[in-house]
Amino acid sequence: MNLRTWIGAVCVFLLPCGLAAASAVDAIAAHKHQGVASCSNSVCHGASQVFRESHVMQNEFAVWQETDPHAKAYAILEQPASREIARKLGLGNATEAKICLDCHADNVPAAQRGERFQLSDGVGCEACHGGAEQWLNAHADKSVKHADNLAKGMYATDDPVKRAQLCLSCHMGTKDRMITHRIMGAGHPRLTFELDTFTWLGRPHYAIDADWIERKGEFSGARDWAVGQGVAAANLLDQLTDPKAGMQGIFPELVLFNCFACHKRMSDKSWGPRQGTGLGPGVVRLYDANLVMFRHVLAAVDKSAEARVLEQTRALHKATTESRDATLAAARRLRATLDELLPRVAQHRFDGSSLNAILADIEADAARGEYRDYDAAEQAAMAAQSVIVAFENTGTIDKARADALKARLDGVYAVLKNENGYSMSGFQVALKALKNGAL
Ligand code: HEC
Ligand code: HEC
Ligand code: HEC
Ligand code: HEC
Repeated sequence: MNLRTWIGAVCVFLLPCGLAAASAVDAIAAHKHQGVASCSNSVCHGASQVFRESHVMQNEFAVWQETDPHAKAYAILEQPASREIARKLGLGNATEAKICLDCHADNVPAAQRGERFQLSDGVGCEACHGGAEQWLNAHADKSVKHADNLAKGMYATDDPVKRAQLCLSCHMGTKDRMITHRIMGAGHPRLTFELDTFTWLGRPHYAIDADWIERKGEFSGARDWAVGQGVAAANLLDQLTDPKAGMQGIFPELVLFNCFACHKRMSDKSWGPRQGTGLGPGVVRLYDANLVMFRHVLAAVDKSAEARVLEQTRALHKATTESRDATLAAARRLRATLDELLPRVAQHRFDGSSLNAILADIEADAARGEYRDYDAAEQAAMAAQSVIVAFENTGTIDKARADALKARLDGVYAVLKNENGYSMSGFQVALKALKNGAL
């Protein structure tokens, strides 16, 4: 075995080496799922109040059941909106269609379902934490280390690369679990995701405190944002290059392209050049918001790598106007670059100067006209939010200053309220005000 294959083997079998490892969907389904009922005993995770002397809150089940949208993900499939989508697609019952269940429930194969498993539990504990077959009995013992649980098939939701892969397997789709443009066309909402924002949206059933950090390691919301962008960009390229996911007849799969490139009023006349694409008018553009964001990440990590990603992204956009072969070659080049950079991003410490560099880079790109499309602007707003929160959490700014910046951030979000009435110039003004308040 040479060094390369040896490292590969270690990555796959022993260590969470990010993109080289098995897919999140496979890892989650590797062991039998015991069902939410196996977690919800009142002395386990079904307490009505937070247990103070425990490592974890122990009321996770109540929080999930009462406030977490994942608990209602299956019930959504019984609603009229889902029935309508399924009818338009000729799928029969949405509650029986694999394509819907894969993301709206814990749809592991029948052989992986224990006695108390119920599909109607929706996106339950094990859909994120992995099949509990081997760790259920042991993991509550205080002497058991996190690493022991992981070795028995618990999913590493604490590792930002792994968490991004997990969330994106439903919030973006993957080559094996696609949300297609046909599903969108039947009325499914457009999907959008940002790891840091979405990890804290709603009422979380976990707290990242000193005890968590001792057991699981450092936490950084800005790093989560950065990693999430890299993983999402890689995921898009994997879908694009996959022979079965990337094409639909003579057209490429349209869900991989920018929705707002096609869905806008003909009277708009809003075209303008973008440095990130280098394309002329009248061209269908790839969905590149995550690649744009990943460039801003690199502004803090490695400026020359930022220039390389820009150059390779432009080459990819150009290739889409030439041929499928040219597109595949350009996508694979860019994918290899992401593979090389992602581990560095995951290890980077996002301190005050990194955060400043990111915010300045986003604003400069905005001023240059990079956020013509709503979906990239939406990502830029979530990025700015992640940076502002990190400013506060790293002690770079005090609370009064953070509150003032959050008020300006509200101004940024206000411009994004209506995706059909989005105005780039309004966004530029709001983002500039935010940057000027921060730097
Ligand atoms: C790749 C994963 C994926 C697939 C496949 C998928 N969904 Fe979804 N669906 C989601 C996610 C994620 C959301 C939540 C989006 C958000 O709020 O950001 C959602 C939201 C919805 C909503 C809106 C829910 C609400 O609260 O308003 C409906 C309705 C829906 N899905 C029905 C379906 C049906 C029917 C199918 C099968 C044809 C399906 N979905 C397939 C991931 C998926
Ligand atoms: C949508 C994905 C998702 C679902 C569903 C989910 N969790 Fe979590 N859970 C997470 C994430 C992300 C974290 C925070 C990262 C970490 O601690 O690993 C977490 C953290 C936890 C923690 C704290 C771990 C610690 O070390 O402090 C417990 C306990 C937990 N979850 C239990 C549950 C239970 C019980 C359920 C079902 C009732 C559940 N989770 C459902 C994603 C999920
Ligand atoms: C098995 C699929 C699946 C996985 C894995 C998953 N989600 Fe979801 N998520 C969904 C679906 C489906 C919905 C929509 C449910 C609804 O509308 O009730 C949703 C909704 C959400 C929402 C509410 C969105 C909104 O617009 O209010 C948040 C936040 C969220 N997920 C975060 C996460 C995070 C963070 C992770 C990873 C730790 C994750 N999800 C993993 C399927 C999934
Ligand atoms: C290459 C152009 C193109 C792109 C990119 C594109 N669409 Fe479409 N979309 C179309 C066409 C063509 C139709 C079919 C219109 C018809 O049937 O009359 C359509 C239909 C739809 C419909 C149904 C509209 C209706 O009147 O029922 C929705 C919703 C939709 N698309 C959403 C999206 C979303 C979300 C994205 C991005 C993820 C997207 N589209 C990307 C071209 C595109």
